[in-house]
Amino acid sequence: MNELKVSNDTSAFEVPAALDKNGRLTGHCVRQALTMLDTHGLVVLTDLLSNDEANFGLELMRQTIEDPDRNRGSFASETDNLYVRRDFCSLPSAPPVTRFAATLCQRVEGVLVEYCGRSRPLLEVATLTSYFGSSHQYIHRDPSGVISLFAAVEDVSEQQGGTVFVPGTHMYGGAENKHGGDAYELMELFRTRCNYHIFRHNLKKLWAMRKDKQAPLAPGEFVDRVFSTKWDQHQPNLLRFLLGKNSQFSLRMLGPRTLWKLYGRRTDLNNLFTLVQAAPRKGTVILYRSDLLHAGPDNRSSHPRRFFGMSIARDMVEPKFWHDGYSPHPTLAANPMCLGDLLDSAPLPVPSKVLDHV
Ligand SMILES: [Fe+2]
Repeated sequence: MNELKVSNDTSAFEVPAALDKNGRLTGHCVRQALTMLDTHGLVVLTDLLSNDEANFGLELMRQTIEDPDRNRGSFASETDNLYVRRDFCSLPSAPPVTRFAATLCQRVEGVLVEYCGRSRPLLEVATLTSYFGSSHQYIHRDPSGVISLFAAVEDVSEQQGGTVFVPGTHMYGGAENKHGGDAYELMELFRTRCNYHIFRHNLKKLWAMRKDKQAPLAPGEFVDRVFSTKWDQHQPNLLRFLLGKNSQFSLRMLGPRTLWKLYGRRTDLNNLFTLVQAAPRKGTVILYRSDLLHAGPDNRSSHPRRFFGMSIARDMVEPKFWHDGYSPHPTLAANPMCLGDLLDSAPLPVPSKVLDHV
């Protein structure tokens, strides 16, 4: 996006996955991944899934997306979901889905158990698909106290828009004391500055889409995305921006004091924070702390962007909070699962290339 300076170099956050004979990350790999997660709030585990495993996950997602009765998520952007710019929906707790989720959890068990006890709930298992014409999400934090996982089940190009992160902006005891005690204020200023640019980018793009043959706007879509009174945190909705009804970005956040600070601390903001966009290869898995600043960008290609996602709580969770931030499939809500259940479930067979090397 021209509006924002975004790096596509994720090498500083990557750990090449090395597996033992049981298909789990080696101890050395776990230690590297934990250091990344603690330091930066995310880790990009390359080649964690074999080609066949990624294909297995992709097939599960295809089956779900093709199901007209799928359970659409109430998160990300409901307006994008409505106009099929995104298709975020939860996966049922069917045996193949549980098997795939179990494979992922067991592979990164050494990392997960450092943050989540075995009794901690699986909050959701989801497919995240974005199509051309989707909005760029505002930079935001997910509800805190969760470890989230994205698995790339096919290559994701820069144009398809892998997730954007702001490394080092996760919250933990004493983190606010960084940067001369101004860490959280500076993070919020940076978020506001980014979201101003994202707001402009989304508006410009929507305006251009009025005459776009590649992704023509549906009847009523422009009004719904720009002037609707409906709740949606990730649209360039001018009405809700002016009324201060968007908690991610609104006029209320641009008072004179904030504008002055944005100007006065612009050098600090430039030096302290960087936007990094992942363009993961098939089989790559990203783990991130839910309170790390991040956003799902718009897909700027004609190829759908697909991710498999799941989230596990790090603590006990109030049911209301859980359902506000995550969208469990009704089968998961009816029969909750915890990390221990997934660690004890049958996984996919260990890839033959791993067994050949140990
Ligand atoms: Fe998010």
